[in-house]
Amino acid sequence: MNKNIAVLRGDGIGPEIVNEAIKALDKIAEIYGHTFNYSDVDIGGCSIDKFGVPITDEGMNICKNSDSVLLGAVGGPKWDNCPPEIRPEKALLAVRKELGLFANLRPTCLFLQLANASPLKQEIVGNGIDLMIVRELTGGIYFGKRFTEEKNGELEATDYMTYAESEIERIGRVAFDSAMKRRKKLASVDKANVLDSSRLWRKTMHKLAEEYPEVEYSDILVDNTAMQLIKNPSQFDVLVTENMFGDILSDEASMLTGSIGMMPSASLSSTTLGMYEPIHGSAPDIAGMDIANPLGTILSAALMLRYSFNMAKEADAIETAVNAVLDEGYRTGDIYEEGTKKVGCKEMGDLVMQRIK
Ligand code: IPM
Ligand code: MG
Repeated sequence: MNKNIAVLRGDGIGPEIVNEAIKALDKIAEIYGHTFNYSDVDIGGCSIDKFGVPITDEGMNICKNSDSVLLGAVGGPKWDNCPPEIRPEKALLAVRKELGLFANLRPTCLFLQLANASPLKQEIVGNGIDLMIVRELTGGIYFGKRFTEEKNGELEATDYMTYAESEIERIGRVAFDSAMKRRKKLASVDKANVLDSSRLWRKTMHKLAEEYPEVEYSDILVDNTAMQLIKNPSQFDVLVTENMFGDILSDEASMLTGSIGMMPSASLSSTTLGMYEPIHGSAPDIAGMDIANPLGTILSAALMLRYSFNMAKEADAIETAVNAVLDEGYRTGDIYEEGTKKVGCKEMGDLVMQRIK
């Protein structure tokens, strides 16, 4: 197959980790007889420096016309004082919105080789963690009207959180479908004891649940979810939630896996066009030092093969290679422990690439 991939390296460690994911994709192309064509698009701070905007219209069009998008990370202290309209993160949200990427899948799996890297006790994570966070990605407070105004002699800031039934229903379907392919358990996370948007969320999920009688469905409040994720994470299979709750809970859940550096994500639309990125940020403090963990990005490339290109075998090949490298004891600094072999970003990428069969 011939596929066009928009490559958005971004800022900080973005370029380094994306390069390692491309090594893996090139190896897949070579072994399985595919052609992957890459188009570079600047996004985030690097684009602000070059063009004065965090993504150009031309860049956005390249993304829209690709078969999929591979992203590193955006942002850094250098651009923290940019006006809100041109902040690096603005481009990321714009790509999500313009490409219609409403469903963000964040698989949270503990590689058993890394059980000791998790700050949680063995009795909590030792039996393995395998949950899927389905985060709504193009609605809610991230995309509501926001403004700051002067009122009664002081500044007042407002952010609106809005959800339409249709938005809730389409993310709900993704979550129920995902549960059907897994252990058939779905927990819908909300704050229905306080928020109207959550009450509509819950009502809409209940309607959908009737269409999926095989799925064991439950509602759970977001504060309780935050606690249960630490107390008893293996009770969960699929979690579905709105944009901001999903942002927060997925960072929390990543620590169950040992390191946020391990976690991939897929942002899907109603077509096969998707965007694939690790869930971590641009880590400017370690940028350019060749010590970042590229595995979250490499695993994101595997998700691209699986979800956008329908290449399940090829996706498995990357995941198996990552497992092999971990089995052999290779670790980047974030997952290093005594008795293992510390390697840099490039070497980790090479090791994975060499093991892809
Ligand atoms: C994420 C990130 C982004 C988000 C930021 C960079 C805007 O934290 O993908 O989780 O909040 O969605
Ligand atoms: Mg986040």
